[in-house]
Amino acid sequence: MTTPWKSYGRDFVDIYDDLFAEDEGEFDVIRQALNLSSNQMPKCPTALDLGSGNGRLAGYLMSYGFSYTGIDLSSEMVASLKDKHGSNPAFETAVVADISDTYLDNESFDVILVWGLTMSLLDLDTQQRVIGQAHQHLKPGGRLIFQFARRSLFEQGFPQQAEFQFPRRHGGLIRAAGHRTGNWWQMTYSWTDSGVRKTAEDQVLLTDPEDYAPALKDAGLAHSSLSELGMLDPQIFGSSDVLVTMDPRYASMSGTVADHQP
Ligand SMILES: C[S@@+](CC[C@H](N)C(=O)[O-])C[C@H]1O[C@@H](n2cnc3c(N)ncnc32)[C@H](O)[C@@H]1O
Repeated sequence: MTTPWKSYGRDFVDIYDDLFAEDEGEFDVIRQALNLSSNQMPKCPTALDLGSGNGRLAGYLMSYGFSYTGIDLSSEMVASLKDKHGSNPAFETAVVADISDTYLDNESFDVILVWGLTMSLLDLDTQQRVIGQAHQHLKPGGRLIFQFARRSLFEQGFPQQAEFQFPRRHGGLIRAAGHRTGNWWQMTYSWTDSGVRKTAEDQVLLTDPEDYAPALKDAGLAHSSLSELGMLDPQIFGSSDVLVTMDPRYASMSGTVADHQP
């Protein structure tokens, strides 16, 4: 496994919900991405959330009619996901596993999501393996939806280094400093809990849709960029983009968004 760090759960557990709040605008884009095709979802659709974190998408997907399975490398995140959502009848399971590796033998899903820049935490070879693995787990006509840090958008709006502040829900601030090294954007977060200063780091790889073309072609998946379709609000998505893939044998993509009836 080539993930550049392994401790997201332990380092980020205190500040995770401050950095990754539930956001109706993001959910709305997922809803639109699900409808981005003439191919309608089945009546009882299934969703697999890769790099689920503590389940920010779980409640939304289940309320939208999906049965939900999450996978995350961090046992802390999976434990928190089960605590929050495990009692929902639409909750199938959450497992600790590497999303670039083999997982959940023989199971397949109508929708596979890799959301919240989980994909961009991985190097390009690993991202391509994630696409290949996800393809193995898609039902016929199913779709893979993944968010990524888009290099060309990033270069329009970001300098080589920058500082940020994120308000915490229960008061206080998280200070963050970012800098670019090659195609990696590295962030260091610092905050104080009960007088103790804490820090955490992550890094995202800046990519463009062309970087995914070989893996998508190998998997036989057509794809659309939601930023190119004008469907992403930069106030919410910043420099990230979303690719929606689809098996072209089952449906053609269009920019038309129809109401989904789960
Ligand atoms: C930025 S968080 C996003 C979580 C969630 N998708 C969201 O939108 O809130 C990234 C998550 O990906 C997980 N992760 C990173 N690399 C992984 C891997 N190779 N396999 C499984 N999970 C991974 C981390 O543990 C973390 O919970």
